[in-house]
Amino acid sequence: MGLLNDIEPLKQAALNDLKSAPDLAALEQTKGAWIGPNGKFTALMKQLGTLSKEEKPAAGKLINAAKVELEAALASRREELELKAALPKEPTDFTLPSRRRALGKLHPLTQVTDDIVRAFRKIGFAVADGPEIEDEYHCFDALNTPADHPARDSQDTFYLSPSPAGACPSPTGVGEGARRADEGSRVEIKPCGEGGATASGEGRGGKSLLLRTHTSSVQIRVMKSQPPPVRIIVPGRVYRRDNADATHNPTFHQIEGLYVDKNVTVGDLKGTVEFVFRELMGGDVKIRFRPHYFSYTEPSYEIDFTNALVKKMGKDWLEIAGCGMVHPQVFENVGYDPEVWTGWAFGFGIERIAMLRYGINDIRLFYENDVRFLKQF
Ligand code: DAH
Repeated sequence: MGLLNDIEPLKQAALNDLKSAPDLAALEQTKGAWIGPNGKFTALMKQLGTLSKEEKPAAGKLINAAKVELEAALASRREELELKAALPKEPTDFTLPSRRRALGKLHPLTQVTDDIVRAFRKIGFAVADGPEIEDEYHCFDALNTPADHPARDSQDTFYLSPSPAGACPSPTGVGEGARRADEGSRVEIKPCGEGGATASGEGRGGKSLLLRTHTSSVQIRVMKSQPPPVRIIVPGRVYRRDNADATHNPTFHQIEGLYVDKNVTVGDLKGTVEFVFRELMGGDVKIRFRPHYFSYTEPSYEIDFTNALVKKMGKDWLEIAGCGMVHPQVFENVGYDPEVWTGWAFGFGIERIAMLRYGINDIRLFYENDVRFLKQF
């Protein structure tokens, strides 16, 4: 029987043609020539009608199977040719330089923090860390700052409203810079749970939770967690209810320092501060201590700073930090014997130093994440 015997050779011929089509246009033509409306294989299908009732089922089955095979061959060849068309015509030169990737940079505040940390590491200070969500005890009471002190005014401090009990605020640490610069020892402080704050809006001893207004709270956490001597710095973010302007922002960064040992003096404090600022800003730096008041130090000072940059700004001195000798009451509060131990502490703002160092006149630029600004450092 003619038709049945024609199917297989015709299919083979069509498969050969499809598989050897050299490009997509040729493939489309081949498709038309075989399975298009006027194609040779289509013609074969049309002849089915001429077969007898007995012959039809077998022939129909064969033809259908062949058609499925042809369509699969067409699809697979098309895929091959499409891929080939997408490949570059010219041979690729793998020795060409690759596309340059923009290199990321550290944020200027991180760079300054790293430099400060590095300077302190040289003289044996470890980096300590504490929670940004604090309680009144660590932020104020233990630092000898009584409840009626203006610093505790809700005008100045962000208090947290009570939330469902039991939850623990996620540990909030210092900025990346401090972590990265952490090549040496580090004092680990529990941010929550034992001696820490919980998210119930109440901290230790039922004291309200707040966003820490200074890094001084970490002094307390460190002293409570270890016996003296202590030699730490604490870089970290702090919060105050200030309206943002060129020199204020509700969040900013500080570095706290604490040194506790026997026979520590104001001379040690001054020498240390001077050393660090010379490392940071160059050899022409001068430091001046001005008497001041902080409840957790006695005596207390404000540190003024000057160098060529400050003079260029038309100023004689720039106030840069607070400091003093740790108040005996603070030692009592953490269980250190003030008759045996002495110490000093300081706190300064990182933004201030960065602004001075880079000649930046608006603090808000640090937080806008505008790459045109950030690229410059
Ligand atoms: N906590 C103070 C502030 O935020 C800075 C400060 C002053 C820190 C004196 C100290 C210190 O450790 O002894 O303004």
